[in-house]
Amino acid sequence: MNGIKKFNLGFLPTPLHELKNLGKEYPSYRILIKRDDMTGLATGGNKTRKLEYLVGHAIEQGADTLITAGAQQSNHCRQTAAAAAIAGMECHLMLGGEKPREYNGNLMLSMLLGAKIHYRGESRKGEDLELLAQSLSEKGKKPYVIPYGGSNITGATGYFEAAGELKEQLDQKGLKADYIFFASSSGGMQAGLMMGMVRYKLHARLMPVRIDKEEPGGRSLREIVRSLIEQGPEDCREIKDGVPMVEGYDHAGYGVVTAQEKRALKTLARTEGIILDPVYTGRAFYGMMDLLEKQKLPKGSTVLFWHTGGLPANFSYAGEIL
Ligand SMILES: Cc1ncc(COP(=O)(O)O)c(C=O)c1O
Repeated sequence: MNGIKKFNLGFLPTPLHELKNLGKEYPSYRILIKRDDMTGLATGGNKTRKLEYLVGHAIEQGADTLITAGAQQSNHCRQTAAAAAIAGMECHLMLGGEKPREYNGNLMLSMLLGAKIHYRGESRKGEDLELLAQSLSEKGKKPYVIPYGGSNITGATGYFEAAGELKEQLDQKGLKADYIFFASSSGGMQAGLMMGMVRYKLHARLMPVRIDKEEPGGRSLREIVRSLIEQGPEDCREIKDGVPMVEGYDHAGYGVVTAQEKRALKTLARTEGIILDPVYTGRAFYGMMDLLEKQKLPKGSTVLFWHTGGLPANFSYAGEIL
């Protein structure tokens, strides 16, 4: 989309298959799943696709260090640490909260992958990434700043291309998806998909389930997605009916596990042997189950869940999931 040469990090295309056992519980619908939990890169997830372009850009810029930010259980940070290891770069992560007594889940893996951790208290969305970049530059490093969630136009390119991948797979299998559900949080995946669907003529209704009701700097997720799309290719900036968003499942707050997420995790694990995560995909999957149960979508529809990973967070929330 933007002429950046991607740096291969993932195992693509990811599988697309039907959830036949789960489908029996929702006989009015056909349910498909796109397995971006299997992209590879230190247990997989949606950041692999974004990082292929972000790291490609960092290499073009002559960078030797990646820096980014997130929560302590950030999947994005863990995958950035893995990408840095593969690219032979240093990795600095600015994480919310204080240094914990024990390391587990994504945080433990980020450390195992060699990232240098900076604990930032209240700031978990990269509020002071530029300051760190400056101080590393003063020490002779060549840092490349990856924004919160990898969600800029460069990162979004990964999902622009993923829309083409899905379209090809659906065509090959003679399938179509009427609705596509996924967890939307920092907006890069959503913006990339929205533009890629125009480019690759993937006709489906996007159902991005909002995960985090916080609006950093007073900017809503819809605004963030819109502003990313404004930076995309002109012929793909179509936002016909506004920016889609499934709201109402994030009341508990970011990273708070409720009976809803638990139910989603148990349902998919026990019908299909597939592991969701408690923060993102569990919440989005519950949103989809809820709408199917209430028959809010037309009967006979084919519904696709785009699994975006997050496996390691289960180990950090272990006591709250079962
Ligand atoms: C497992 C998982 N799913 C979905 C998302 C949301 O993707 P985006 O930040 O592009 O909206 C994230 C973001 O961190 C994630 O880790």
